[in-house]
Amino acid sequence: MSFRSAGFRPAVLGSAIALVFALSASVVTAQDAQPKTAAPAAATTAATPASTAPAAAAGAEVAVKPGDATAGQAKAAVCGACHGMDGNSSDAQYPKLAGQSEQYIVRQLTDFKASKRQNPIMLGMATPLSTQDMHDVGAYFASKTPLPGVADQALVEKGETLFRQGDSTRGIPACMACHSIDGRGNPGAMYPQLTSQHAQYIQATLKAWHDGTTWGDDAHAQIMPTIAKKLDADDIAALSSYIEGLHSADTQPAATP
Ligand code: HEC
Ligand code: HEC
Repeated sequence: MSFRSAGFRPAVLGSAIALVFALSASVVTAQDAQPKTAAPAAATTAATPASTAPAAAAGAEVAVKPGDATAGQAKAAVCGACHGMDGNSSDAQYPKLAGQSEQYIVRQLTDFKASKRQNPIMLGMATPLSTQDMHDVGAYFASKTPLPGVADQALVEKGETLFRQGDSTRGIPACMACHSIDGRGNPGAMYPQLTSQHAQYIQATLKAWHDGTTWGDDAHAQIMPTIAKKLDADDIAALSSYIEGLHSADTQPAATP
C-alpha cells in the first residue's frame, strides 16, 4: 500500500512535473510568443517618433499656432517697401493690407506660393515664407488700421446700389452679402476686407477676373470670377471708387461730412 502509494506518488509527482513542465512550456511559449508580438509593437512604437516627425511637420502646415503680430512685424519689414510699413501702401497698384484678416492673408500667400494666384513679385515674396511666417505676418497686418481712401462722388450712388443690392436683373449679387455692409469682410469665411482699398487695385482685380483670371480652381476661388464676369466696365469703375471711399463704422463720420 505504502509502496503503491509511494509508487503512486512519483506518478502524481511525475504528472505534476509534467503539468508544471507543460505550464512552464506554455509560459515559455507565451514568452516566446510575446517577444514576437511585442517586437512589431516595439517596432511600431520605435517607428512612431520617426513617423510622427514628418507627420508633425506636415501637421504644422495645417495646425500652426495663431499668428503672433509681434513676430510678424519683424517678418513684415520686407513687405513694407510696397505695402507700407503699417500695411497702408502709398502706391495704389499695391493693395493695402492694414486691417485685412489673418486668414485671408494666409490664404493669398499660400496661393501665391503655389502659383494658383499668379503674380511674379508675390511668388518671390511668398516662396520663402513658412505657414507660421504667413500667420505671423497676417496677424501683424490685421492689427493695423486701414487709412481711409476717397470715393469719386459722381460714382458713389451707382457703386453703393450695386454694393448693397446687386442687380438681380443681371444676376449680380449684393457685394455686402459676403463683404459686409461696411466692407470689413468675414474673416472666418475668408471673405476679404474691401474697406478703403485702393480703387486702382480693386479695378485691376475685378477686370482680371472679368477677363478670365482665376486664383485657383476650388469652389472658393470660383466665386469672384463668376460675379466679375457679369460686371461691365462702368460697374467696375463705380464699385472700385465706392469701395475705396467705404470706411469702417469707426471712421464713417469723418468720411461722410
Ligand atoms: C515689390 C513689391 C511687393 C513686395 C515687396 C511685397 N508685395 Fe505683396 N503684393 C504686391 C503686388 C503687386 C500685389 C498684387 C498682386 C496681384 O495683383 O495679384 C501684392 C499682393 C499681396 C497680397 C494680396 C492682397 C489682397 O488684397 O488680395 C498679400 C496678402 C501680400 N501681397 C502680402 C505680402 C507680404 C506678406 C509681403 C512681404 C513678405 C509682400 N506682400 C511683399 C507687391 C509686393
Ligand atoms: C458669395 C460671396 C461673395 C460675394 C457676393 C462677393 N464677393 Fe468679393 N470675394 C469673395 C471671396 C471668397 C473673395 C476672395 C477670393 C479668393 O480668395 O480667391 C473675394 C474677393 C474680392 C475682391 C479682392 C479683394 C482683394 O483684396 O484682393 C474684390 C475686389 C471683391 N471681392 C469685390 C466684390 C464685389 C465688388 C462684389 C459685388 C459685386 C463682391 N465682391 C461680391 C466673396 C464674395
